[in-house]
Amino acid sequence: MKISASILAFASVASAHYVFPSLVANGAATSEWQYVRQWTGYYSNGPVTDVNSLNIRCNVDASTKSASTLTVAAGSTLGFTAKASISHPGPLQVYMAKVPSGSTAATWDGSGNVWFKIFGQGPNFGGSLTWPTQGATTVSFKIPAAVPSGEYLVRVEHTALHSASSAGGAQFYISCGQINVTGGGNGNPTGLVAFPGAYKATDPGLMINIYYPVPTSYQLAGPAVWSG
Ligand SMILES: *[C@@H]1O[C@H](CO)[C@@H](O)[C@H](O)[C@H]1NC(C)=O
Repeated sequence: MKISASILAFASVASAHYVFPSLVANGAATSEWQYVRQWTGYYSNGPVTDVNSLNIRCNVDASTKSASTLTVAAGSTLGFTAKASISHPGPLQVYMAKVPSGSTAATWDGSGNVWFKIFGQGPNFGGSLTWPTQGATTVSFKIPAAVPSGEYLVRVEHTALHSASSAGGAQFYISCGQINVTGGGNGNPTGLVAFPGAYKATDPGLMINIYYPVPTSYQLAGPAVWSG
């Protein structure tokens, strides 16, 4: 009885976690880990909690992992699958980083002040906060039409805030996809940040009690969205 109770407890904790294993392009999900770097221990679905660790970039060990690279059009809608679903409350943010010349998306580690934000979505306010992606099995966003053509890493980040009232309580669910943008523009992305480096554990969007008193505003962590 004791053993089965603890297995059940473990199963319910694990099932509350989630992972972003595939890109969604032209409305269709690609294979899991085909274009998304498979991080060490992905089957745990567990979060990263240390904003100062290298794992905050692309998840555990994934700055040195490799996947295939998917060609997508600038201005098109791209997405990630969320498995089994985004069960926790919190914001969704998406960043891109242009692969430097001489490197490829398959080999580059994503280091430096290279990441710009292309999507950031906080809560809706009311009697209590509601989060648009909570419960979602897919998330989507637009590749800015103005991004220059070329290879990029695209980093999805859902931050679970259900136990974030003290520093380090926020849980980061992260994956990095590899894309090759075609038909791009002449934009010059701004608000470039590094991971780690972009966040502090005490940032107001990361250390917050989302339940009581119910917040009346919310400040996304990181730079402003660059939309081109
Ligand atoms: C990216 O797209 C360009 C233009 O279609 C193509 O020439 C290049 O081979 C592609 N690179 C990758 C890695 O898919």
